[in-house]
Amino acid sequence: MTTPTWSLRRVHAVDDAVIDGLTDVLLDCVEGGASVSFMQPLTRERAMAFWRGVARGVAAGERALLVAEDAEGVCGTVQLILDLPENQPHRADLAKMLVHRRVRRQGLGEALMKAAEATALECGRTLLVLDAVTGGDGARLYERLGWVRVGDVPGFALFPQGGLCSTTFFYRELGRNA
Ligand SMILES: CC(C)(COP(=O)(O)OP(=O)(O)OC[C@H]1O[C@@H](n2cnc3c(N)ncnc32)[C@H](O)[C@@H]1OP(=O)(O)O)[C@@H](O)C(=O)NCCC(=O)NCCS
Repeated sequence: MTTPTWSLRRVHAVDDAVIDGLTDVLLDCVEGGASVSFMQPLTRERAMAFWRGVARGVAAGERALLVAEDAEGVCGTVQLILDLPENQPHRADLAKMLVHRRVRRQGLGEALMKAAEATALECGRTLLVLDAVTGGDGARLYERLGWVRVGDVPGFALFPQGGLCSTTFFYRELGRNA
């Protein structure tokens, strides 16, 4: 087994360097055709504005942000949205799972998911929910890691270059089969 070329950490205070690196990763994913809330062309300014909003959410304790870094900088990330209605204190949404194309298919996606699940437990969250493009790289990863497929919503979102895509919803109960 090869040693990972990245390190993972939870970021509690998101500085400008991290925002810059996260912006690079988001731009790369959207340019690569990933359906992650944004349309092409995504400008650097819009991408940075998104991450500045995330940084405010992290500072407010509304989100947990995990970042992977290699020798070139930020190469992957995932978030837990913790700011949910008061009747769902045990739950979090997993969102913005992004791996730069330069480091894909080396196990970073799996490592980010496992780190996110561990972080969720640390935050007292035992039920996670996410959605992914039906049949996409993310959906395959989540099924492989034991997430339960709830079902598909046809035409839920657009691909960044246009055209409707189906979305699959998944959940995972932590502490049972984690
Ligand atoms: C989905 C995504 C996060 C996966 O990241 P990743 O780092 O490539 O994930 P992994 O490396 O853990 O797994 C990907 C594949 O590589 C394989 N792999 C993992 N380590 C490997 C290794 N050392 N050698 C060869 N293959 C390997 C895995 O088995 C998996 O194979 P599969 O695609 O046939 O299922 C990434 O493709 C991505 O960021 N996509 C764009 C954004 C996106 O769609 N995010 C999901 C939103 S829901």
